[in-house]
Amino acid sequence: MPSESRNRPLTVAVVGATGLVGDTMIRLLAERRFPVSELRPLASRADGREVTFNGRNVPVGQSSPDAFDGVDLALFSAGADVSAALAPAAAERGALVIDNSAQWRMDPAVPLVVPEVNADDAALHDGIIANPNCSTMQLVPLLKALDEAVGLERVIVDTYQSVSGTGADAVAELEGQVREHAAGREPVASVYPHPIAFNALPEIDVFRDDGYSKEEWKVIVESRKILHLPDLRVSCTAVRVPVFFAHSEAVHVETTEQITPDRARELFAAVPGVVVEDDPTAHRYPLATHAAGRDEVFVGRVRADASRDDGRGLAFWVVSDNLRKGAATNAVQIAELVTRRGWLAPARARAGAAS
Ligand SMILES: NC(=O)c1ccc[n+]([C@@H]2O[C@H](COP(=O)([O-])OP(=O)(O)OC[C@H]3O[C@@H](n4cnc5c(N)ncnc54)[C@H](OP(=O)(O)O)[C@@H]3O)[C@@H](O)[C@H]2O)c1
Repeated sequence: MPSESRNRPLTVAVVGATGLVGDTMIRLLAERRFPVSELRPLASRADGREVTFNGRNVPVGQSSPDAFDGVDLALFSAGADVSAALAPAAAERGALVIDNSAQWRMDPAVPLVVPEVNADDAALHDGIIANPNCSTMQLVPLLKALDEAVGLERVIVDTYQSVSGTGADAVAELEGQVREHAAGREPVASVYPHPIAFNALPEIDVFRDDGYSKEEWKVIVESRKILHLPDLRVSCTAVRVPVFFAHSEAVHVETTEQITPDRARELFAAVPGVVVEDDPTAHRYPLATHAAGRDEVFVGRVRADASRDDGRGLAFWVVSDNLRKGAATNAVQIAELVTRRGWLAPARARAGAAS
């Protein structure tokens, strides 16, 4: 186990370094001046590719258990299979893994963390901390604010998710289909089951036996885990739309006590990382094109839910960049949290050192 120090520069591996999320993670480590002594970018193969980090070119290595020797922190973003195969090996070698895949999120032994919501859960890790699904991530800071103030009874979320959430191939597919359409040709679909250009696909991830997609189910169960509300009633419809970057969500919430839209806007504005943009008559509300490239969660169109007449229903619109707060920013924020609080080592090792 590498020795614990709050300010020591760290050897940091990024698994999936050539992907959309991995690339964003590397840029954020530099932007946020995370203390990195050595960056180890890893991908499926080492074939001469390089990433740029703090103005230097760094060769991409091949992911393997031995690639984690001497690594303090490993940011994984290469899919669940890679995380299943390599995250335990990285943790055994003394790295803290922050995993962006769905592999460990619902494991009771693995904290699932959004620093603005449940930072203290990170202290309990045993070598792996999970980063939530992008659609869950932008939702829970707002739900937490409402739950603390007026209690949550029921949440219904409909997502409008960008193609970058599927990865680099999907971004290329949308670009290609737009060009095909402009040239008067039929678009060809390969990443998605249908053309995504000029369409809306109510299918994200595989379908479960109960008719929900796995993406929808992730929003339901991950929200409950992060908020520590195991019985919260949540439903979701997840839809892929022809937007390049940033996910949008229409959210309907039923609360235990009454709440006005003005009070909700005040509560939302007080959450770190949340920006209220809510002046519909001036056409001001959160937009994917505006949120893209930003780290904040944007919320607007806050209104009393017309389907309730007792003041206990709210509707609002939430937008955030899925590659940043929805993935890379949150992962780097978790890294900042654990180093700042001295939680890099697993909880058991810290307890042993203290006794
Ligand atoms: N995009 C989002 O908004 C988002 C949000 C939250 C979570 N996620 C999750 O993050 C992961 C990556 O997403 P992405 O958008 O960055 O995908 P992407 O652009 O398709 O990139 C995939 C990355 O994974 C690497 N990889 C593939 N197979 C590998 C293997 N066997 N060993 C090591 N690395 C391997 C690829 O390396 P090569 O270049 O060598 O193939 C590439 O670096 C996915 O699990 C996704 O579900 C994505």
